[in-house]
Amino acid sequence: QATLQAAAGTHIPAGVYAETVTEVQHYTDRLFRFRITRPGAFRFRSGEFVMIGLPNAERPVYRAYSIASPSWDEEIEFYSIKVPDGPLTEHLQKIRPGDTLLMRKKPTGTLVLDALLPGKRVYMFSTGTGIAPFASLIRDPETYEKFDEVILTHTCREIAELAYGQELVKNLMEDPLVGDLARGRLRHYPTVTRDPFPVMGRITDLMASGRLFADLGVPPIAPGEDRGMICGSMAMLRDTRDMLEGYGLVEGSNAQPGSFVVERAFVD
Ligand code: A2P
Repeated sequence: QATLQAAAGTHIPAGVYAETVTEVQHYTDRLFRFRITRPGAFRFRSGEFVMIGLPNAERPVYRAYSIASPSWDEEIEFYSIKVPDGPLTEHLQKIRPGDTLLMRKKPTGTLVLDALLPGKRVYMFSTGTGIAPFASLIRDPETYEKFDEVILTHTCREIAELAYGQELVKNLMEDPLVGDLARGRLRHYPTVTRDPFPVMGRITDLMASGRLFADLGVPPIAPGEDRGMICGSMAMLRDTRDMLEGYGLVEGSNAQPGSFVVERAFVD
């Protein structure tokens, strides 16, 4: 029982889920989102990632993807970059509804509510596709049970790259269930670095200048009431982590909750 034959020419390795693509939406020539069916037995915590691949090879290439949908959703959503010669995304960007996607069974990750101490306000700092785990968390009622205020920052090079996040927040505010929790408590703070935009600059610079806090009408970050979650490139993680540590926050983990957590936005 090493392999199952799902469709002609398609190998499904043992020990992984083979799910069906239900929806694909392209935002730019570099960014798209897609949804797949959810296995009945699959459980995850909002903010976790999972390994996904395509069944087109004898030895599929797997890459880590943050789950962008909340844990109550009956489907699973991912938000992805398209890398021209990326071993997975080169093929993944061509998927269409009805295609098969492989997903390893065990989700994991540190961008979870359990790894944070309670607090008043949680900042979710993202760049590029680093918004994906927060797309899950801002749609999870538990986030609003744990924190009074949720601040989602999303920095991209170009305006077009903000579209996924803007659509996400708009749909969320209109959602009959989570919308009621999020309204007035979720603040979305998009910034752009290489196009003219109302708020320009890296989030680290906007914190250093105080503009972020002035725009939001909140005090500067302090360990007593503020918590942070960070997802972006290695350089962005390093610089944002340094700033949060400068404010006195301490990095946490599943084993030892703290005042901020970090995860790399996986790109290849
Ligand atoms: P910038 O245009 O100034 O490089 P990337 O595609 O390189 O991951 O960048 C996504 C966004 O993250 C860009 O707006 C980029 O700004 C910003 N960024 C890149 N490096 C850092 C960093 N070290 N700290 C904060 N933001 C960063």
